[in-house]
Amino acid sequence: MCGIVGYVGSNNCYPMLIKGLHRLEYRGYDSAGVAIIDKNNRINAYKSKGKVETLEHNCEDKNVEGTIGIAHTRWATHGEPSDVNAHPHLSEDGTIALVHNGTIENYSLLKEALIEQGCSFKSSTDTEVLVQLIQYIRDTNGCTLLAAVQEAMNQVVGAYAIAVIDNQISDTMIVARKSSPLVIGIADDATYIASDASPIVEYTNRVVYLNDDEIGIITRGEPLKVINVDNTPSPIDIQTLKLSVSQLEKGGYDHFMLKEIFEQPMTIGDSIRGRVVDGQVTLSGVQENKEAFRKARRIIIIGCGTSWHAGLIGRHLIQDMARIPVQVEYASEFRYSNPIINSDDIVIAVSQSGETADTLAAIQIAREKGAFVYGVCNVIGSSIARETHSGTYIHVGPEIGVASTKAFTGQVTVLTMLALAIGQLKQTVDNETIGAICEGIKQLPAFIGETLKLNDKIEKLSRIFTYAHNFLYLGRGYNYPSALEGALKLKEISYIHAEGYPAAEMKHGPIALIDRELPTVVIAPKDNLHEKIISNIQQVKARGGSVIAVVNKGDETIAALADHTIEVPSVPECLSPVIVSIPLQLLAYHIAIKKGCDVDMPRNLAKSVTVE
Ligand code: G6P
Repeated sequence: MCGIVGYVGSNNCYPMLIKGLHRLEYRGYDSAGVAIIDKNNRINAYKSKGKVETLEHNCEDKNVEGTIGIAHTRWATHGEPSDVNAHPHLSEDGTIALVHNGTIENYSLLKEALIEQGCSFKSSTDTEVLVQLIQYIRDTNGCTLLAAVQEAMNQVVGAYAIAVIDNQISDTMIVARKSSPLVIGIADDATYIASDASPIVEYTNRVVYLNDDEIGIITRGEPLKVINVDNTPSPIDIQTLKLSVSQLEKGGYDHFMLKEIFEQPMTIGDSIRGRVVDGQVTLSGVQENKEAFRKARRIIIIGCGTSWHAGLIGRHLIQDMARIPVQVEYASEFRYSNPIINSDDIVIAVSQSGETADTLAAIQIAREKGAFVYGVCNVIGSSIARETHSGTYIHVGPEIGVASTKAFTGQVTVLTMLALAIGQLKQTVDNETIGAICEGIKQLPAFIGETLKLNDKIEKLSRIFTYAHNFLYLGRGYNYPSALEGALKLKEISYIHAEGYPAAEMKHGPIALIDRELPTVVIAPKDNLHEKIISNIQQVKARGGSVIAVVNKGDETIAALADHTIEVPSVPECLSPVIVSIPLQLLAYHIAIKKGCDVDMPRNLAKSVTVE
């Protein structure tokens, strides 16, 4: 989390830095700041608690001129959100400014040592320790900024992407990365740096992704140099971005979240394009690694948040179609569980951003233990995409709303295709079934489009439920994870407590909560558990609870029982999570809007979680 952006060129950098921060706000929005070296070689730094617009407002009457600068939008880890804890942090003598995304694990030891040497600190952040350390090394050793950054990197333990400027060399910026992402954009007249490509794309499509332990030296008018901590030059691999500016704008919608919900007919079309042909699935990642998939004795799916929910659906899909045992783990738990991983295991890492720190760390463990690691990511060129042996991109385009919507349906769609591709390879599923599911996959964009027509009805329905303090979401089989995801969507953007539960487990506890005040959303498409879930609805009704049921069109049995029904098109059972997610996303969105919540930037959250 946290977003960093920087510029070295010949134009005033402030407008670019501010625009870049807005693009990166999805990564955190507790506070923001800029530091720019002016023509008198002074570093002017401005920082404000709150969103980037507060910073902009506070900078209206300030000197923000200068052609080299860095900026930051924060998601607090060490130290509360405040002006003083906001980045950039300055060294004690004010000659060096630094922005940082990540965490310095050994900051308190380093801080104590620096205090003993006479340093004083203003903030309670780990980042200030890093900038003070760099100044201390530069001044004590009488070395260059670059040498001081290299030495500091040897001393710090943790994760970081940093950008550093020094007013004694006012045409140069030093950047470095370890475990947190950093992209460098190269244009004819300027060099840009950012946590991802979104602040860079409108200036250039030529980018370099810095690798771990690499340092970039950006000097005005000179080509980019990249070296590693030991001073060895690294090759510079310039890649071409495939991102467009229009993908990063709201396109007439009130919120990114709504835009992204409505984009799903298109994004699912993009996910499946060229992959489902003539009743068969072709995924290059599977084609190129047939042996690994054939010999796999077990699959472990890892992810966090929504991606973990997609993984739970992936388990059903892969077990059903490929008959390989699958376990699904939170990456954060898995990495510390002394996991048993064998060389004939496949680890599938599911991640929208491709940058989630826990997922990345779990991948490294899996690789060390000899597993074949497969990525299901959205962001092209992201760390997870690069750290995995192979994988399948979900291709849903940039997701900016903090609550994941189109990435979730893209992940589920790709996991469906992956399960089919492995099933085809292992011949564990017959051609007729594969053909029927392929046909269903091809129809998904149209069915999602039809489901989106429910928007007005759901908007009206949402008015009834803004009073609720709690919600229960129930589902079974393929749609138990849909219930978890529906509950997560509601709680993260509306701050209404919501719990997802397997419907049959309700009687072992949550049933005690049911009363007139607790709405229960039941996901009940006509699948092989339909009769069972009808009983669960009856159990809720018998206790005076109110039921909102997501059903297939024409389901009169449930319509007669439930207080409200939302009718979605029928699709093969394994595809139903994609369809039922649409009304659950809309319900959460409209309830949150009615409650006056900021759906694109819910409190305390960030989209890309690059810290543990
Ligand atoms: C954060 C986001 C979620 C996301 C999760 C995992 O919590 O708010 O939307 O599901 O991180 O992120 P990833 O990028 O790995 O899918």
